[in-house]
Amino acid sequence: MTPAGTRKVAAYLGALAGLSLTLAACSSGTDPAAYPEDDIEVIVPFSAGGPTDTVTRMIAEPMSEDLGVQLVVQNIDGAGGTVGAGQAATADPDGYTVLMHHIGMSTAPALYDDLAYDPIADFKPVGLVTEVPMTIIASSDFEPETFEEFVTYVQENADTVTMAHAGEGSASNLCGLLLTDALGVEVTAVPYDGTGPAMAELVGGQVDFMCDQTTNTTGQITAGEVKAYAATTPERIEALPDLPTTTEAGQPDIQVSVWHGLYVPAETPDEVVTQLTDSLQAALTDQGVIDQMANLGTAPVSEEQATPEAHATLLEEQTATWADIIGASQGG
Ligand code: MLT
Repeated sequence: MTPAGTRKVAAYLGALAGLSLTLAACSSGTDPAAYPEDDIEVIVPFSAGGPTDTVTRMIAEPMSEDLGVQLVVQNIDGAGGTVGAGQAATADPDGYTVLMHHIGMSTAPALYDDLAYDPIADFKPVGLVTEVPMTIIASSDFEPETFEEFVTYVQENADTVTMAHAGEGSASNLCGLLLTDALGVEVTAVPYDGTGPAMAELVGGQVDFMCDQTTNTTGQITAGEVKAYAATTPERIEALPDLPTTTEAGQPDIQVSVWHGLYVPAETPDEVVTQLTDSLQAALTDQGVIDQMANLGTAPVSEEQATPEAHATLLEEQTATWADIIGASQGG
């Protein structure tokens, strides 16, 4: 082919690529080249003031500054996070609706027969954000003082004690199941739309105990507003150095941390996802975010983990793992 002919083919292919890009933009209603031009809604599928809300607001500020628009947090709670995730799944794929969710994204398919969305097919992962440790805490007037006393007390009083969680498939629910399975008991579970409101009733003594993320419990533990028995991590939490781990307390099976990630609807243009991933990665190196997370017992993930590829891999692995765990616990 003559050089002139090659140039014509290259020009034609370039035009075709541009056309497909424009068509993609038309289908999503977004011109990736101009994105973002308006505020971005970030759906948090749990109540305001809880750990998912807290982590979201930590990164929303630097991401808003980086993108030049406001990331506006919208709490759409209920059913262990599946109501909010379901609304995000059917939002316009224009980059103006983002979902923040956690390990519950991987547990929902095994727990909800009528789940309105497919966590893998209906979303594009943007990147992981943080993996938050959990703590076993109780109301300050709950009798046991140590984790060993807690185990004995709950085993002897299973029919009267109450455990808070944020709905089936929530992190607090999963940790609660690991805890009660390890203790060999069934207790009365009290569901909330998030562990923000659950914490208020725990501090008030209306519910006895729960397993919740350090991003919601560190302040209350440090202030002595609740009793803290153990951390569900292999090593002690730097922000809570006096809190023993479940392994130290002889219960190594009670181990869980809560990974969080950002998602957009599946048809969102890749160029838009890339801009959101780049902005997320910048936010995770922001010293203010690092310090806020450290004060609440957690840390940003690495740049390699804050990518769609790493996020997709973890989501697929965790969805399969929890399907096995939940299937086995249901006698499947
Ligand atoms: C919340 O933000 O309320 C929690 O993540 C709920 C949970 O998963 O336990």
